[in-house]
Amino acid sequence: MHSFRSFQPFNALLSGLLLAISLANAAPSLSSGVENAPRSFNNATNTCVSIANALKNSTASQVFWPLSIQYTTDTEHYMSSSSQIAACSVEPGSAQDVGTVLQIIGSSRTPFAVKGGGHASNPGFSSTTGVQISMARFSEVTLSSAQDTVDIGTGLIWDDVYASLEASGCNCNVVGGRVSGVGVAGFTLGGGYSWKSSQYGLTIDTIQAYELVLPNGTVTTVTESSNSDLFFGLRVRFNNFGIVTKFTLRTFPQTQVWGGAIVYLPTSIDDVKAATAAFFQNVTDPKAAIITEFNTLAGIPVITASLFYDAPTPPAGMFDALVAPAALSKDVSTRSFSSLVLSSPSNSTAGLRGRFHTVSLTGYSADLIDVIWNETQHWGESLGSLLETGTFISYDIEFFTSGVLSHSTTPSAYPPDRSRALLPLNLYFAWLAPTSDSFFESTIEQSAQTITDAADAEGQNIGDAPLYGNYAVDSTSLDRIYGANLPRLQSIKATYDPNSVMDLSGGWRF
Ligand SMILES: Cc1cc2nc3c(=O)[nH]c(=O)nc-3n(C[C@H](O)[C@H](O)[C@H](O)COP(=O)(O)OP(=O)(O)OC[C@H]3O[C@@H](n4cnc5c(N)ncnc54)[C@H](O)[C@@H]3O)c2cc1C
Ligand SMILES: *[C@@H]1O[C@H](CO)[C@@H](O)[C@H](O)[C@H]1NC(C)=O
Ligand SMILES: *[C@@H]1O[C@H](CO)[C@@H](O)[C@H](O)[C@H]1NC(C)=O
Ligand SMILES: *[C@@H]1O[C@H](CO)[C@@H](O)[C@H](O)[C@H]1NC(C)=O
Ligand SMILES: *[C@@H]1O[C@H](CO)[C@@H](O)[C@H](O)[C@H]1NC(C)=O
Ligand SMILES: *[C@@H]1O[C@H](CO)[C@@H](O)[C@H](O)[C@H]1NC(C)=O
Ligand SMILES: *[C@@H]1O[C@H](CO)[C@@H](O)[C@H](O)[C@H]1NC(C)=O
Repeated sequence: MHSFRSFQPFNALLSGLLLAISLANAAPSLSSGVENAPRSFNNATNTCVSIANALKNSTASQVFWPLSIQYTTDTEHYMSSSSQIAACSVEPGSAQDVGTVLQIIGSSRTPFAVKGGGHASNPGFSSTTGVQISMARFSEVTLSSAQDTVDIGTGLIWDDVYASLEASGCNCNVVGGRVSGVGVAGFTLGGGYSWKSSQYGLTIDTIQAYELVLPNGTVTTVTESSNSDLFFGLRVRFNNFGIVTKFTLRTFPQTQVWGGAIVYLPTSIDDVKAATAAFFQNVTDPKAAIITEFNTLAGIPVITASLFYDAPTPPAGMFDALVAPAALSKDVSTRSFSSLVLSSPSNSTAGLRGRFHTVSLTGYSADLIDVIWNETQHWGESLGSLLETGTFISYDIEFFTSGVLSHSTTPSAYPPDRSRALLPLNLYFAWLAPTSDSFFESTIEQSAQTITDAADAEGQNIGDAPLYGNYAVDSTSLDRIYGANLPRLQSIKATYDPNSVMDLSGGWRF
C-alpha cells in the first residue's frame, strides 16, 4: 500500500501553504557560472578561494558558488529558519580533504558550518554566512564481512541507510531515525531516539567507532579503547571536537515490522488520549513503540499516531485501542522497516520556519496528557487563527519502555544521568513569516514550562532534568543538557581544540 496517498487530507491542507513557501523562498538568479567566484569579495569568500585552490588537484572534493544547484542543495534545511546565505559551499569527498578545509578555516578564522541531513531545528547550528561544508559525498554503507557492524557515511539520511541494508539481504538493521529525511550525522552526534531504542538503546549506545577529523586537520579513528575521552565526548557533543566522516554502528536482526500512521478524526480525541495513557500504563514490551501527535494546522486539530512493533505481528490486543478510533486514514500493516519510515508525513511541513523544544518526562498520566492537549488547542487557536494562517503546532508524545537508557556500559556526555528513564516530549512549532521567529521561540519556551510545571505538580521531579539536545531550543543552557559532565567536556575541548577552531561554527558551545 502506498502510504503517502492515505495522507491526502493532511497534505491537502498543506498544499496551498507549500506553494506560498516555495514562492517566498524562490531566490533571485544572478549566477554567472558555477565555477566562478563572485566579484565582490568578503573575507569568507577569500577563504573559499583558498579552499578551492587547495583542493584543485583533488578529484574527490569541490567548492560551489552561489547560486549553483549544488550550492543551493548544500545550504538547504528542513526548516527554512535554519538556513543562511553562505559565501560558498564545499563538498569534501575524503577525510584528508576535510582536514585541509579545517586547516584553512582555522588559520583564517572564518565562520563555517557543517551540514549532514540539514534537519537542525536551531538557526545557525548547521548554517553560516561563511563557508558551508556539506558532507553529502560521504555516502558509504559498508557492512563488515560478519555483518555485525556497518560503516555509514555522515552525508546520508536514514532512508538511504535502511534501503541499502534491505538491498544487502543481511536481514539486519541499525538503531536509527524514525521518519523520512532525517540526517545520520546530527541525529547520531546528538543521541538518537529510534523505534528500536527500548530494545537496544540510543544510537550513540550502538557506536563502535568514529572516523573524526580533528580541528587541526588530523584524521583519526575514535573507539572506546583508543580514546575514551573523545569517545565519551562524541556521545554527544555534535560538532565540538571536529568533523565526523564515518560512524561504525552495530547491527541487529531485522524482520518485517508491523505499524504505520493513522490520521484520526478530530472527534476521536478522547479515545486517542485514553488509549495513549493506557499504553504508557500497560505496555512493557521493548519491541513496542508509539508516537501520538497532537497537532493543529491553521488552528484546525489534526491528531495522528505512528505505531511500531518490531515483528511482523504484534501481540494480540496491544494496539487495539489506538487502531480503533474513527480516522481519516489508517496506513497500518506488516511491511519492511523502510516502508514504515517512508510512511511518515514528516516532509509535509518542510520549508516552513520552525523550532523544536522539549520536556523530559518520567511518564504520561491521563492528567498530563490533558494538559498537553490543552496546550495544543490553546496555542493552535491563538497562534493559528489570529496571528498567521500558516501555523503548525505539534506536541509529540513518544513511548519508550523504562529500560531505554539502560543499554550503555560506558558513560556518555548525554544523558548525564541514566539512573531513570526520561522520555523526551517533542514540541514543534512551524510558521511562515521570518518576523515571527522570536515570538514563536518565546512561546514554545513558555509552553514547555507550563508542561514542566504540570509534571512537577504531579510529582515527576523533572524541573531540572537533562534535556535532549536534538530537541532543545537554542536558548537552553548547556548544563541542562550535560549536567555534571560539563567540566570533563570542557577539559576534553581544551585538549583537542586548543585554538577554538570549532567555535567558528554554530551549535552547543561552551
Ligand atoms: C522531521 C524530524 C524528525 C526527527 N525525528 C527524530 C527522531 O525520531 N529521533 C531523534 O532522536 N531525533 C529526531 N529529530 C531530531 C534530529 O535528530 C536532529 O534534527 C538532528 O540534528 C538532525 O541531523 P541532521 O544531520 O539532519 O542535521 P544537520 O542540521 O545537518 O546537523 C545537526 C548538527 O550536527 C552537526 N553536524 C552535522 N554533521 C556533522 C559532522 N559530520 N561532524 C560533526 N558535526 C556535524 C551540525 O553542525 C549541527 O550542529 C528529528 C528532526 C526532524 C526535523
Ligand atoms: C576582514 O578581516 C580583517 C582582518 O582579519 C578584519 O579586520 C575585517 O574586519 C574583516 N572584514 C570583514 C568584512 O569581515
Ligand atoms: C597540483 O598539482 C600541480 C601539478 O602536479 C602542482 O604543481 C601543484 O602544486 C598542486 N597543487 C596543490 C594545491 O597541491
Ligand atoms: C523527504 O525529503 C527528503 C529530503 O528532501 C527526501 O530525501 C525524502 O525522500 C523525502 N521523503 C518522502 C517520503 O518523500
Ligand atoms: C490498561 O490499564 C488500565 C488501567 O490500569 C486498565 O484498566 C486496562 O484494562 C488496561 N488495558 C489493557 C489493554 O491492558
Ligand atoms: C489551557 O492552557 C492555557 C495556556 O497555557 C492556560 O492559560 C489555561 O488555563 C489552560 N486551561 C486548562 C483548563 O488547563
Ligand atoms: C593534532 O591534534 C592531535 C590531538 O591533539 C595531535 O595528536 C596531533 O599531533 C596534532 N597534529 C598536528 C599536525 O599538529
